[in-house]
Amino acid sequence: MSQYDVIVIGSGPGGYVCAIRCAQLGLKTACVEGREALGGTCLNVGCIPSKALLHATHQLHEAEHNFAKMGLKGKSPSVDWKAMIAYKDDVIGQNTKGIEFLFKKNKVDWLKGWGKIAGKGKVQVGDETHEAKNIVIATGSEASSLPGVEIDEKTVVTSTGALELTKVPKKMVVIGAGVIGLEMGSVYARLGTQVTVVEFLDQITPGMDGEVCKTFQRMLKKQGLDIVLGAAVQTVEALKTKAKVNYKLRKDDSEHQIDADVVLVATGRKPYTGGLGLEEAGIDLTERGMVKTDAHWKTNMEGVYAIGDVIAGPMLAHKAEDEGMAVAETIAGQKGHVNYGVIPGVIYTHPEVASVGKTEENLKEEGRAYKVGKFSFMGNGRAKAVFAGEGFVKLLADKDTDRILGAHVIGPMAGDLIHEVCVAMEFGASAEDLARTCHAHPTFSEAMREAALACGDGPIHS
Ligand code: FAD
Ligand code: NAI
Repeated sequence: MSQYDVIVIGSGPGGYVCAIRCAQLGLKTACVEGREALGGTCLNVGCIPSKALLHATHQLHEAEHNFAKMGLKGKSPSVDWKAMIAYKDDVIGQNTKGIEFLFKKNKVDWLKGWGKIAGKGKVQVGDETHEAKNIVIATGSEASSLPGVEIDEKTVVTSTGALELTKVPKKMVVIGAGVIGLEMGSVYARLGTQVTVVEFLDQITPGMDGEVCKTFQRMLKKQGLDIVLGAAVQTVEALKTKAKVNYKLRKDDSEHQIDADVVLVATGRKPYTGGLGLEEAGIDLTERGMVKTDAHWKTNMEGVYAIGDVIAGPMLAHKAEDEGMAVAETIAGQKGHVNYGVIPGVIYTHPEVASVGKTEENLKEEGRAYKVGKFSFMGNGRAKAVFAGEGFVKLLADKDTDRILGAHVIGPMAGDLIHEVCVAMEFGASAEDLARTCHAHPTFSEAMREAALACGDGPIHS
């Protein structure tokens, strides 16, 4: 039996970051992981592989649509799907091996196998029981499905199957116009698949700023994604090599059917706590199956914490990472903190969509007086040079104090641009602070400054 200061269960971005930070803070640390490779959903079947395929297919799109415009003539590349999948797998391997290296470097022990909480301060992995002063549950999430829909990961797939298809389908139905549906839908649409996205609500990406949402939907349609809104899926019939999706339009109850080679079910994820022994240990869950924690990530059992997708909040890798660091600091006697008001969200389609803080809809609901500074990428020289003039930056600031309350970007490198607003918000900056900061020319980030100027005396380039 080995003794640790901390045992982290799960090695996703929440767990591995927590384990490394614990070790850096002088705590003897182990991390339990049952998968073959470290890195969790994010590195193995989530963020990283999906971004590899988004990158590869975006290059294809550029070659097909924009190369000739720049005088780059010749045949567009053809797709060797096996090689593209191999590239994606190689990217996964490099990243997961990287975590193994970081564990060794920081002296974090990897306890290989599935962990179970076997009482206060005890974690069982296989036949061995390890002792720890503190346990951190970081077991993440798994795809949820719809009632009566059977996932075979071949014809009816979750995102995991969609990252591993043996061939590019001719027709794909995506159920759910959320982040996974639109990212994976974009990948296959760029590969020539006829993609139909079926969404229950009357808009895509619920929770997103309404104006961005409308522009985003228009752009996706232009890229060939067929989007059916207000559609309640009734059944998915899996045949030998095809599937049929039956749905009813909510507005008139009319019944429709679409067939596809592959159906991707992307209707959300649920916390994963299987085999952890939480019930026997007496650790409380919420009604939705999440591990219940207080504001300091403590569960109801002393010395047991929980972080990441398995607890409440947005299911995002960077949210899990921040919680991992904060819990490590808390265990080490410091004041761990996460500012949940400044967690960016990014959709890695083309263009990217990024947001942080309040939407206009939030502010209206709160009855808060605000002003809007908007700037189109059409007025940004760099964006025009790379055929990325569509889209805009929208900055929201308090009407009286000018304090930045939120930002929403649809356009080139939106996922990177958003971070200057995150830093500004952490420092309680005003739109004027941002507007008075020199931004290098020619960069996409000048659009952010122009949006900040639009909150004051006005932008220069529109
Ligand atoms: P996870 O990453 O789910 O890791 C949990 C780990 O715990 C797993 O490896 C699991 O095997 C292990 N585990 C579970 N139970 C046990 C046990 N009993 N014993 C031992 N090990 C156990 N988020 C972003 O921020 N950006 C993105 O671009 C993005 N893209 C995504 C794309 C897809 C297709 C998917 C599915 C998700 C994506 N996400 C993205 C979400 C992101 O992957 C998750 O928010 C993140 O991985 C959560 O981290 P976590 O550490 O809480 O859990
Ligand atoms: P999601 O919550 O983003 O979207 C699910 C969508 O499915 C919603 O639009 C919802 O209205 C719709 N839906 C639900 N039930 C339905 C039904 N019966 N019929 C039709 N539509 C239905 O969930 P998604 O896309 O599965 O992603 C899961 C999680 O993974 C998200 O929380 C997300 O944060 C994370 N993720 C993050 C990424 C990123 O940060 N870029 C990329 C991919 C995933």
